[in-house]
Amino acid sequence: MKLPPLLVVDDEKNMRLSLETVLRAEGYDVRLADSAEAALKLLAAEEVFMVITDARLGGMSGYEFLREAARKRPGLPLLMITAFATPKLAVEAIKAGAIDYLAKPFEPDELLHAVARCAERHQLIAENAALKARAGEPYRVDHLIGDSPKVRELRQLIETVAPTDATVLILGESGTGKELIAGAIHTLSKRAGMNYVRINCAAIPETLLESELFGHEKGAFTGAHRTKRGYVEEADGGTIFLDEIGDMSRPLQAKLLRFLEDGTFTRVGGTQELQVNVRLIAATNRNIVEAIQKGEFREDLFHRLNVMQFRPPPLRDRASDILMLAGHFLRAFSVRLGKPIRSISEPARAALLAHSWPGNVRELRNVIERAVILEPSPEVQAHSLPDFEVESRLRAGPANPSSSTGGGPMSLSDALMRYERELIQMALQQNAGNLGKAAAQLDLTRHALRYRMSRFNLDGGAVDDEGEAPAPSGSR
Ligand SMILES: Nc1ncnc2c1ncn2[C@@H]1O[C@H](COP(=O)(O)OP(=O)(O)OP(=O)(O)O)[C@@H](O)[C@H]1O
Ligand SMILES: [Mg+2]
Repeated sequence: MKLPPLLVVDDEKNMRLSLETVLRAEGYDVRLADSAEAALKLLAAEEVFMVITDARLGGMSGYEFLREAARKRPGLPLLMITAFATPKLAVEAIKAGAIDYLAKPFEPDELLHAVARCAERHQLIAENAALKARAGEPYRVDHLIGDSPKVRELRQLIETVAPTDATVLILGESGTGKELIAGAIHTLSKRAGMNYVRINCAAIPETLLESELFGHEKGAFTGAHRTKRGYVEEADGGTIFLDEIGDMSRPLQAKLLRFLEDGTFTRVGGTQELQVNVRLIAATNRNIVEAIQKGEFREDLFHRLNVMQFRPPPLRDRASDILMLAGHFLRAFSVRLGKPIRSISEPARAALLAHSWPGNVRELRNVIERAVILEPSPEVQAHSLPDFEVESRLRAGPANPSSSTGGGPMSLSDALMRYERELIQMALQQNAGNLGKAAAQLDLTRHALRYRMSRFNLDGGAVDDEGEAPAPSGSR
């Protein structure tokens, strides 16, 4: 990585030139400024990795300059050179934002040493940022681990559909990889170089979702101080991923349907019709057919979205992938956590294979992360795994006479539904029917909670406190 230049600020020409000579001899690229004002202008225009300034400058003093520079470029290393080193001046320099100071006269080596430290720091920060950017790097199809016929088919379908502009609907249980699939489709599409915008419809309060999605005009509603572009405009030319679309309100579904026809929309509070070119990918873990039957999801929107349908299979339907995924996550977490755990013991493998994985790949990933943290030996032992038996018994819950479906064996999804219903009922009771509080306790949005309540016929007696909407948290 190439180091940007550093900036030397001094109103004495000789001092500037001698600093420049010393620094250039060491290979640094140097910019010079003869006043604080000139330096600030340069800082606004060019990237530098550090600033060296004299305490005494004509015009704005070195201290004022430090304060200003630290405000404008927080985190930029600033080194001050003072005529006398007194503790008081040192404190003042540091308070003004300097990370270090040098007293005149100083040896060139002292200066070079301080500069080298700042250069190193700069490189570290830059490398870190590059690493982070890479971690958030495009999803790829080969990130979709699995060798079962179902997963191979899925990869094949992604590769076939991605380059087209077809609208995609992804239906699957929680943790089956819907987000991964959506990302892979964008990455493999012609739009890969453009924006990929992801919106979680369940995480944004219903009242805000429309303006987040389509933008709003200044004054459209209280708090709309200026015009804001929506996500669809941000995604222009690229892809928009509407996650948890089953949580979208019916009025907004209507607007989305219109948008899908030809890409036109109006901002909230606006009259001008705008048009963008985006590809839409939608996903939900809800039973969409059931939602349509209940009148909660528009059938016409479903058909419009359902051009290409992806159904990532639950993990229990592709047991042959369990160990492959476990190995994949084991390698990832042992590297990330710096623990040399290379394999999974036979009893632990058996336990993983016997479990039914209601939380799918996400649950498996969490289980392996936990095991890597807990495991003292170089091989994952069964005791580092959760007690799956106890967990599934807990999940089934104690027989509840009111919701029991009789004494017979229950399907997993019935048992899960019953457990979910009981948890929601309990949270509502504990919060005296206050929806906002119950939703917070369950880590759901109120909208998502209300949806589940109507699904479980738990509507009576709850108080909806609209005022306490959680902060919107759309992620991109
Ligand atoms: N086939 C797979 N190979 C590797 N990792 C996977 C696979 N499927 C899912 N994962 C991982 O499992 C986790 C959950 O996946 P993802 O977030 O895509 O699920 P989801 O279907 O969107 O779930 P939810 O409905 O809860 O949002 C992620 O960490 C993802 O990377
Ligand atoms: Mg998801």
